Amino acid sequence: QKRWFGAAVVLVCHWFLQLSPCSSPPQRKVHVLLLSSWRSGSSFLGQVFSQHPSVFYLMEPAWHVWTRAERPRARLLRMAVRDCLWSLYQCDFSVMDAYLPENPRVSSLFMWTESQALCSPPACSITANNETQCLQKCDAAGLQTAEKACSSYSHVVIKETRLFELESLFPLLQDPTLDLRIIHLVRDPRAVLRSREESAAYLEFDDAVVLGQKKVDQVQYEVMKEICQSHIRISETAFLNPPSFLGGRYKLVRYEDVVRNPIKEASDLYDFVGLEMTEKVGEWIYRKTRGRRKGTWKDAFQIISRDATQVSEAWGTMLPHSKVSLIQEVCKEAMWLLGYRKVDSEKQQKTLDLDLLDPLDPHKNQRNT
Ligand SMILES: *[C@@H]1O[C@H](CO)[C@@H](O)[C@H](O)[C@H]1NC(C)=O
Repeated sequence: QKRWFGAAVVLVCHWFLQLSPCSSPPQRKVHVLLLSSWRSGSSFLGQVFSQHPSVFYLMEPAWHVWTRAERPRARLLRMAVRDCLWSLYQCDFSVMDAYLPENPRVSSLFMWTESQALCSPPACSITANNETQCLQKCDAAGLQTAEKACSSYSHVVIKETRLFELESLFPLLQDPTLDLRIIHLVRDPRAVLRSREESAAYLEFDDAVVLGQKKVDQVQYEVMKEICQSHIRISETAFLNPPSFLGGRYKLVRYEDVVRNPIKEASDLYDFVGLEMTEKVGEWIYRKTRGRRKGTWKDAFQIISRDATQVSEAWGTMLPHSKVSLIQEVCKEAMWLLGYRKVDSEKQQKTLDLDLLDPLDPHKNQRNT
């Protein structure tokens, strides 16, 4: 009787395994690509992931690919960037050999202290969330510690600004050893333009790579044209005629929505990649977006933060209307697609409380073709 029961349990368990595992099998690793462009809030959103205790985060590894190449051009390097991501997702850091100096250290990795995982156990012994301490204590020789630490997390999240299409990622999406989710972060091109003007010198190198080393007069607008076209290209791939392996693996998010509703948007993104919102992360997000205002992060689900919203909409007062007009023309189609309403006059532009955000409707282009 007992033996029969045991066998039946095993059988039922076996049969049920597809639906609900009787014994929990080891969790499958999830790989997240936070795909964005410069000055679009991706550092903040990257931190939202980096702060999560289940996440191994890396910031912009393709920086190494671009800066290492001679006369680098974005189009030419995209497969090298793709292969770099592919290896890093498997926690194989040997791919970096080609791009790092000899005898690399953890600190050879671009913006390494942005990765909370590289500043905490098991990669490093410190437990405080403190960059100074991380710089002092966590810079090990070699990349083996980083590799080993990477393997111990359930999620590997990589933020990347140096990809302009999804097609090169198709092999990763089809790789049965990966479980890739793509979060595509976009921002109002007018706000991006304003932010780019503040950091023009710092962006010079990347701009030249984006433009394929072509000499042009209006660099800012030519680069913005490329970026806006990439938004259209990517959303067409994702929404117009997506390959089946992209199903459920792509999510479009606007920076403005994140700023207005940070906890809710972060929770949605966590859901999308199978992470739970924790109190500590919730409080971190709340502190970063709400300043010293009273209240707790749980109140923050539905409140619009005027502080953060105003910063994100500062282009309205800072940019002359001539520039706004020009960028609206250059990015016309992308703005329409992403729900950024245009302004038609200087007067309208300076109206502070004007809401220029339409609800995000990524399937818009389907109905128009
Ligand atoms: C980080 O650690 C340093 C050195 O231990 C300390 O002086 C500093 O106050 C800490 N910073 C924060 C924000 O806790």
